[in-house]
Amino acid sequence: MSAIPERPIALLSPLVEERDALLQRLTDVGTQAVGILQVATGKLEGHSIVLAESGVGKVASAPSAPQSATSEDSRAIGVCGVAGGIDPELAIGDVVIADRLIQHDYGHLTNQGIRNFRPGVPPIGDARDRIAFDLSPELLMRIGGVVKDVGLPALPPDLGIPTQRPPRIAFGPIVSGDQFINSEHVRERLRRDYAALAVEMEGAAVAQAAELIGVPCIVIRSLSDLAGAESHLDFPKFLRAVAPTAAEVVARVVSVL
Ligand code: ADE
Repeated sequence: MSAIPERPIALLSPLVEERDALLQRLTDVGTQAVGILQVATGKLEGHSIVLAESGVGKVASAPSAPQSATSEDSRAIGVCGVAGGIDPELAIGDVVIADRLIQHDYGHLTNQGIRNFRPGVPPIGDARDRIAFDLSPELLMRIGGVVKDVGLPALPPDLGIPTQRPPRIAFGPIVSGDQFINSEHVRERLRRDYAALAVEMEGAAVAQAAELIGVPCIVIRSLSDLAGAESHLDFPKFLRAVAPTAAEVVARVVSVL
């Protein structure tokens, strides 16, 4: 009697550079069309994977979640790529695993600033509860268990990355919005308002779509920049160098998804 095939994990990367960092790790690689997506299939550490380049931003990335996950009945969705660091303790090259995901640009905008609402809920009135998409405590614990002893290699010294300690892995909130953050002022606000460790442009939108189809969504990002005054220079400079660090952590995590 043949064994029941394992349900795959859908992995999404917004950019081709981020996708390629994962693709390089796959074995038994194939390609197939899934709706509007061209996906790669293969194995990562022996686990079945469907891998897609989702495009940048909330609207581009969110439909890739149901497309890649439902066509193959995936058991989890992972978003893997780079982000801007928000927590001042973190450095370029560090990896953040989201314990919660918040769309920082969804809400009600007044002269006092933005009041966030849960995406999908009309942004009017007082209802502000549950603005975040939270990872389940059980899944968080399983992921914590497999990454706790992971030692990530230091990035090459000739890149000119300011910190030369080996990259760290941190768990905490990641915020997403349709904006590339290139501002100390906004960086401080995102830290103050959401205790965010990192900012990117897709994770919380994919989490919203994943919730609709009842599949867990895990977002793993390495820091390409620190979302401040230099981020527009750092992002293109470090993107290719740090993308493999997030892919390395994803390779450790797939066994517990
Ligand atoms: N992804 C990588 N860096 C970013 C930044 N500074 N803002 C938004 N998304 C990012």
